[in-house]
Amino acid sequence: MEINGQTRTCGLIGNPVAHTLSPVIHNALAEKTGHNLIYVPFPVKEKNLEDAVKGGVALNLAGMNVTVPYKSEVMKYLAETDALAAKIGAVNTLVPAENGFKGYNTDMPGLYRGMSSEGIQIENETVIVLGAGGAARAVAFLCAEKKAKKVYLFNRSPGKAQAVAAEVNAAFGKEYIVPMLLSDYKSLPQGKFLALQCTSVGLYPETEQAVIEEADFYRKIKIGYDLIYRPFETKFMRLVKENGGKAYHGLKMLLYQAVIAYELWTGTSIKEEDALEIYEILKEKMELKE
Ligand code: ATR
Repeated sequence: MEINGQTRTCGLIGNPVAHTLSPVIHNALAEKTGHNLIYVPFPVKEKNLEDAVKGGVALNLAGMNVTVPYKSEVMKYLAETDALAAKIGAVNTLVPAENGFKGYNTDMPGLYRGMSSEGIQIENETVIVLGAGGAARAVAFLCAEKKAKKVYLFNRSPGKAQAVAAEVNAAFGKEYIVPMLLSDYKSLPQGKFLALQCTSVGLYPETEQAVIEEADFYRKIKIGYDLIYRPFETKFMRLVKENGGKAYHGLKMLLYQAVIAYELWTGTSIKEEDALEIYEILKEKMELKE
């Protein structure tokens, strides 16, 4: 694609951004769809966050992504916030609007689209969520929104699990979320569950750790979905498989959060086969064989 007078720019603000895979996805999407658009990383210091957002508006960027550590803080600087993003309390995608940017959260719809593309359902399932940080909190909202039967939310620090449960249950007016201590897994009801791993435990380079390591726990899991994609096989995933379950990593979530952001920026919809072609490019970049 030639960069010329009509080229539109999108970018990622965060700190650090040097290892991001988002430019790979978005530039491949632009090539595939024939949009004259480029996507570049912008490392932004905390003191410059507001200026960075204003600068994006002033430079007429076609859209921005926001990553760690600014997904909540950036909300102060937006003209509007989408209802789901407001509920979750985090945005990762900025779309040009009347007087600035409108903020969206495509991480959760991205996770859902990634799960759906593997044939994994949330509706009517009893779900285990591991963690009560930012990612787990958003996943708990997603589970309630998609009408899980019940969610057992396990966390090392009980106060955070209780706070997330109280917040989600209040938002939906139903006792969807049950807070649990990590050691409470023995009191889970009979049955096999879908488990979503939303802690940072097992993330590269700490690849030999899982937040719960007992085989007893993994025998209760039929499907384990780790939000982590570095490494592509976490210890959590290995333990799920060793105990008879199916396991997935978070790379499809990364892909689809980007696809949904791209759709918002360009007003187009990306065909599933094109998304899957880009997934192959992404796997190659990560030297991932599966
Ligand atoms: P994110 O935004 O990725 O969710 P976060 O908000 O820092 O990151 O949350 C990290 C999650 O991983 C939390 O649930 C945290 O548990 P605590 O709430 O008890 O801190 C969990 N976590 C991180 N390191 C952990 C460890 N060594 N053992 C157990 N849980 C851990």
